[in-house]
Amino acid sequence: MPTGTEVETRPVVLILLGPPGAGKGTQARMLEERFGLVQLSTGDLLRAAVAEGTPAGLAAKAVMESGALVSDEIVLEILAERMARPDVARGVILDGFPRTAGQAAALDTLLAGVGQAVTAAISLEVDDAAMVGRVSGRFTCAACGEGYHDEHKQPAVAGTCDKCGGTEFKRRADDNAETVAERLKAYHAQTAPLIAHYAGLGVLERVDAMQDIDAVAGGLGDIVARVTV
Ligand code: AP5
Repeated sequence: MPTGTEVETRPVVLILLGPPGAGKGTQARMLEERFGLVQLSTGDLLRAAVAEGTPAGLAAKAVMESGALVSDEIVLEILAERMARPDVARGVILDGFPRTAGQAAALDTLLAGVGQAVTAAISLEVDDAAMVGRVSGRFTCAACGEGYHDEHKQPAVAGTCDKCGGTEFKRRADDNAETVAERLKAYHAQTAPLIAHYAGLGVLERVDAMQDIDAVAGGLGDIVARVTV
């Protein structure tokens, strides 16, 4: 029975905005651990669909390899499926979504329908010139997905994942200089305008993501602690 002292807690909806290599995935995983939120990466969901050979995955594969954006229809379908799972109840970190005005409008409508709104959209601000090096040096643990980099973040013991002890690593098919250039173009043409959208809603935050990984995590953590009070 209500006592009158309960505080209504709304699920947290955080958005990480930034071009390829800005550190969205790296930081989302760190925030997930620190704040108990769920990282929801449309890139990861699409890569899983490609690997499984689902109709969405078959349609997305060539588009992703070209560096262009997958259609809003496919992305919204896989996102809705993921959002319907119970583990997202406490809150989510959206990594790589929304990426177009249509996706942002669909998210606003979806949240408004359940009495919610975006808690914060955090723009990871970087220099494009450094992103090709960040992306082409990236590799991940094949078993748990922990991310590494040839120069900036190597496993403590060479060839062994710090997190799960796995010994197999993989690199993404779209992490070559040519495709990264296309992904950067797509970001500036279709995603960067969302920064103004979220500024207009009063939920935009900015972080200097040219700092080292731990410094970026510190700045982001301060923001998330403030907006989720
Ligand atoms: P997606 O998987 O979302 O890729 P992306 O946006 O291009 O971003 P990345 O994963 O490349 O970079 P990141 O910012 O996560 O950087 P990371 O933390 O790994 O999308 C792939 C494709 O899927 C798209 O091109 C599109 O086709 C499709 N897609 C996905 N979502 C879509 C959507 N909503 N709509 C339509 N299409 C969609 O870091 C990179 C490397 O740098 C790592 O090695 C890391 O260790 C290192 N690093 C990170 N931070 C730092 C730092 N501060 N200093 C030094 N090194 C760092």
